[in-house]
Parts: sequence; structure tokens; C-alpha cells
Amino acid sequence: MRKLVLTIISSLFILSCNDDDDITVKLGTGNQLGDNSGGSSASVYYTPTSTLKGTATFPIGVAMSQNQAGSANFTAIASKEFNSVTASNEMKFSTHSPAQGTYNWAPGDAIVNFAKTNNMRLHGHTLIWHQQVPTWVTNFSGTNAEFEAAIKSYVTEVVTHYKGKVASWDVVNEALNEDDSLRSTIFSQKLGSNYITKVFQWARAADPTAKLFYNDYNLESNITKANAAIALAIANSTLIDGIGLQMHISITTPSATVLNTIMDNVVATGKLIHFSELDVIVNPNGSVSSYDYATALTQKNKYKEVFGIYKTKVPAAQRFGITVWGMRDVDSWLKVNGNNFNDYPLLFGDNYEYKIAHQGVIEALK
Ligand code: XIL
Repeated sequence: MRKLVLTIISSLFILSCNDDDDITVKLGTGNQLGDNSGGSSASVYYTPTSTLKGTATFPIGVAMSQNQAGSANFTAIASKEFNSVTASNEMKFSTHSPAQGTYNWAPGDAIVNFAKTNNMRLHGHTLIWHQQVPTWVTNFSGTNAEFEAAIKSYVTEVVTHYKGKVASWDVVNEALNEDDSLRSTIFSQKLGSNYITKVFQWARAADPTAKLFYNDYNLESNITKANAAIALAIANSTLIDGIGLQMHISITTPSATVLNTIMDNVVATGKLIHFSELDVIVNPNGSVSSYDYATALTQKNKYKEVFGIYKTKVPAAQRFGITVWGMRDVDSWLKVNGNNFNDYPLLFGDNYEYKIAHQGVIEALK
């Protein structure tokens, strides 16, 4: 009898444990997760008690698409957690101007409306970049003077269109090589090596109140490249208001030591500083086959470290904010562009679950 009672009690205990596990597993449903067992304390997700924007003392942004602007789920979390948005593609050259002198404003305007409706800041991305450029630009057959007139007209039209609607622009994106040299692009070739200054001048003239940024990748990890961006900002001191560090990083790089060193140098410019496209990949060398708790925890700690360094290093007057490059893992450009790239770089799971990375950000912001 005593044995039977014990058996019943232990069965009930196992059942109740299974219930807990069920909850954990249910949270993970549809997210192709690996080992997510071990009770809710070891889940890759958690139940938040604070919001990002409610905790931060600087703007917290998210990159988004026109499609997402029409999603009720996306809108609910975006408006709750974020107070700044950047269009992933809708304000790029190839979207804006399929033919010379022809403008397609609808995608960008959808993001403008989203930002306005949800009371969010809109960061313009991006005026001049060597990617996502329409063929009329890459195949331009006129003279260099005609090219300059066409690009000046494009920049002026776009900045004027969004005047009063965007707070800021990534005026030039990714113009530097990994050493401190200028990347050779259609723009450097046809507008000359001082083209960055020209583009900033055109943008400034069209909207004198927008904050103008130079934006690039690997600035957070390559000290030489970061110093080149800093030199550019200093050389164009009245035109460049801020530096955007894209921050497409991984759980292993950059180290806190490198990021701290670079941040000291960037802060010394006195410019605004935007972590403009943050994501943290967990699978930099393809060795991770599932998003287990240990991996999620390492990612949480990296997010926490990055937000902590920004908060500690950047004086309040220079904090333009931190923008994550997408909401859910499934939305990540790395996932889409990388052909089933097995990674989980963002703060939310595929079904809008709050990842513990979100908790890491909250802990850093508090
Ligand atoms: C990416 C978009 O997120 C993708 O949807 C698109 O296919 C390619 O561009 N650096 C940038 C961003 O400055 O504009 C890029 O965005 C990601 C890398």
C-alpha cells in the first residue's frame, strides 16, 4: 500500500514536471529549436516584465519592411518595444528610382506612415551605397558631369520628399575598404574621390535639420577602418553629424576590449553614435546545429555586453540609439540571404517569442 501511494505520488510529480516541460516546448513550437528541455528556467525564451523603449534612456530601433507594416503581430511588438524604425529596403536607391527621373515613393511612404501612426522616429537608410543601385546608374553612359547632375538630383529629390518625416539619414553607406582606403564604386569613379563630401552637401542643402550619418560595417571590430571613418567625420566636420556602426557581429567578435577601444575613439569625435544594424549571429563557423540554452545564454550575454558598452561609453548627448536589424530570427537578412543560414541573430523567436537576449538587453539598460 505504502509502495502504491509512493508510486502514485511520484507519477504525479513526473506528470507535473512534464507539464512544465510542455509549456517550455510549446513556447518553442515552430522555431526549429534543438534541446530546449530542462524546465522553464533553462528556456531560450522568457516572459518579459519591462520593455526595451521603456527601460532605455536613448532610442531603440528596429529595421522593418513594408509587409511587416501590415502585420498586426509585428505592429503590436514594434509599438510596444521600439521607438525608432529604419526601412530594410524601402528607402534604397533601387526602390526609389527604377528609371532616371522616375520615383517610386509608395514603399518608403508606407514606412513613414507606420512610424507616424506608432509615434516612432524614422531613420532614413540609405542615400548612396554601391549595392541595391538601379541599372540606370550602374550602366550610366553620359558624361561625368551628367552623372553628377543626375545623382545630385536624386539625392535632392529624395531628401526633399522625406523632409520633416525622417529625423536622419545614412547619407553614405559602406564607402570604405577594410584598410583605410576608399572603396572604388560607380560613385567614386564618376563623382571623384571627394564624392562623400558632395553627397553630404546635397543632403544638407535639401534638409538642413536632418541629422546626417556616415554608416559602415566592421567599424566595431576593425580599428583601422574605424579610424578611417573617424577621420572622414573629422574632415567633414560640419557635414557629418554622426557615425553609424552597423554592428553585424557574432557571439565571439568583437571582444569587449576591442569594442571599448573603438568606442573611446568614436566618442572622442563628439559626433552622434548609432549602432545602426545590430544582430548577433550564434553560428559564425557553422558548428552550431541547434539553438540550445547554452547558445542562447552566450548570445544574451553578448547583447548585454554591447548595450552595456554603449550605455557606459557614449555620453547622453551623443546617443542616437541602437537599432536591431529585424525583429524575429526568421526575418533576419542573414537567414534570407544566406540560403537557410542556420542562425538565430535577433531578439525575438519566429513566433514573436521573447528570447532571453531581450532580457540581456533589459539587464544592461537598467
Ligand atoms: C539588407 C536587407 O536587410 C536585405 O533585405 C536586403 O536583401 C539586402 O540588404 N548593410 C546594410 C543594409 O547597410 O542595407 C543591408 O540590408 C544589410 C547590410
